[in-house]
Amino acid sequence: SLPVPSVQELVRNDTKEVPPRYVQNNDNRPVIIFEPSQESAEIPIINFSLLADGDEDERTKLHLACKEWGFFQILNHGITEEVIQKVKTAVSGFFELPLTEKKKYAMEEDDLHGYGQAFVHSEEQILEWSDIMFLIIYPLKSRKTVVWPELPGFKEAVEEYSKNVERVRDEILGNMSLLLGLERDRLKEMHGEMKHAVRMNYYPPCPNPDLVLGIGPHSDATSITLLLQDDDVTGLQINHKQKWLPVNPIPNAILVNVGDCLEIWSNGMYKSIEHRAVTNKEKVRISVATTVFPADTTELEPVETMISEQHLSMYKRVKFLDLIKHGMAKTMDGKIFIEYAK
Ligand code: SIN
Ligand code: FE2
Repeated sequence: SLPVPSVQELVRNDTKEVPPRYVQNNDNRPVIIFEPSQESAEIPIINFSLLADGDEDERTKLHLACKEWGFFQILNHGITEEVIQKVKTAVSGFFELPLTEKKKYAMEEDDLHGYGQAFVHSEEQILEWSDIMFLIIYPLKSRKTVVWPELPGFKEAVEEYSKNVERVRDEILGNMSLLLGLERDRLKEMHGEMKHAVRMNYYPPCPNPDLVLGIGPHSDATSITLLLQDDDVTGLQINHKQKWLPVNPIPNAILVNVGDCLEIWSNGMYKSIEHRAVTNKEKVRISVATTVFPADTTELEPVETMISEQHLSMYKRVKFLDLIKHGMAKTMDGKIFIEYAK
């Protein structure tokens, strides 16, 4: 990644106008709607405890959510408010450190781990209005411990939250397996050595929110992503039926989305939806995305139960590493997978 300034630092230095490198082309500039819209309220809500009890209706709701939305919020997941609050406090505590402190945990060139800005590959690239911190959580041997902030309580909070998310992750993947006509553990096993990373996003206030994007449109190259967002600052938008739809935060809910791997495995039944984040003039927004993804060498292709004479395989077999490395893998219906780690 090429070194670019910390956006938070630009704002700390009282930048009154968005520097040219952050200004989006006309067709990418966001229309910012913060009012909860009718349609946003329709994003499916899954009652996790019912799902965990094997409730068939709730499982069907999950199926429709993955098929028609690619996004859903989960409630009653059993992750306590305290655990959630602690991880949010840890993340904001980290970003509030002086730049010199944060730089101790900076990403190295050609490395994703640590503190910095999302992957910057050219001088011409339009930059995003955010700083990030990216940490691999599981497997333990993949952790790059030198970029874990030595901030009191940080590691404990992230670990405690991640342990909880692991349980939620497994229940969801288990139910999805059943819905795709597979044994409960099958999706999990198909990852090979499953990885679990956390991407902490920090979106400072912006003097011209209508000119920039906190994170540009992308789909996640994950199997699933589990997102924690601010309770009272809206910013995430999903591309639903060709329209950008704001996602209204629900306090303590976990937002889950289908990633590219699951779209491939399900032969396109489940949709990996494009999304982006917008900024605002007044408030910092923080989100914590737990990304679940397969081993580098895992070959992705639709599962046998999703292929028939009526439903031929829509995806070329692709190695996970190639999916993220080459940025895009064209599918037969012409959809382009946008590189996850831009
Ligand atoms: C992401 O897509 O990783 C970030 C989404 C968000 O900040 O809500
Ligand atoms: Fe994303």
